[in-house]
Amino acid sequence: MTGHLIVTDEDATRVITMRRPEKKNAITHDMYRLMSEAIDTAQNNPAIRCLIITGGSGVFTAGNDLEDFVATATATTDSGPFGTSPAIKFLYSLAQNTKPIIAAVDGIAVGIGTTMLFHCDYVLASSTATFSTPFIHLGLVPEGASSLLMPRTMGHQRAFAMLVMGRKASAEEAREAGFVNVVVAPGHTEAEAHKVAREISALPAEAVAISRKLLKLPPEDLTRRIDQEGQLFGERMKSKEAMSAFKAFFGRKRA
Ligand code: COA
Repeated sequence: MTGHLIVTDEDATRVITMRRPEKKNAITHDMYRLMSEAIDTAQNNPAIRCLIITGGSGVFTAGNDLEDFVATATATTDSGPFGTSPAIKFLYSLAQNTKPIIAAVDGIAVGIGTTMLFHCDYVLASSTATFSTPFIHLGLVPEGASSLLMPRTMGHQRAFAMLVMGRKASAEEAREAGFVNVVVAPGHTEAEAHKVAREISALPAEAVAISRKLLKLPPEDLTRRIDQEGQLFGERMKSKEAMSAFKAFFGRKRA
């Protein structure tokens, strides 16, 4: 168990809250496991019509916990168990999820904090939110089927700037790029997400499920890409480029 991940059911909505503010909500293995479980157990529960994922006020998430990255990288063999990591399992849960999922992003969304949004159906961002996929700066490659979903949503050039150049996007740029629905005032994303959840929950459930499925890529296309990326990502985690980037991050406050 961890106090860093809170799951509550409020009316027909399951709310998944990352709460590790002292580490900018960096996601640990335990948090991934609990997020997967929250998504998976909602699937056959007819009382749950929507999911909300949030980091609360001020931060969404700084992405994968880098200490866990280092531990995984140093523990893996050449074939690498990264493909079975809790992060990959969480991404599978997202790819296979059949319920509308709403993200409330107030503050930074780094790495998987941004890539998970491409599996969501509705994204609210506060005006101070920023989105970045700095894999390149860590010597890594895209994950979470982002190499498939980001160009599909925003076009190759904008996806290149984010995924290959590691450029950050503001809330307004994210809205223009098409992966944020609406920008609201800081501190208001969660309340607005609940309004959206109530709107969706009032619609005919079966028709919502069928329509949503028509809009999405087949889950097997997503999981295939997650596996391809995961294999490369696992290899890259053990690279000199990645190891020296992790070391630089943890050494930066001592410099
Ligand atoms: N993994 C583990 N710890 C993290 C973390 C991460 N991804 N992101 C932040 N933290 C920790 C910091 O080490 C720091 O801990 P400390 O106070 O014990 O030293 C704490 O969270 C606060 O972070 P700090 O860097 O002081 O805050 P900031 O506002 O100056 O910067 C970020 C915030 C997110 C820009 C910066 O922390 C960062 O770049 N984090 C790494 C993001 C990343 O590369 N994620 C993985 C992407 S694949």
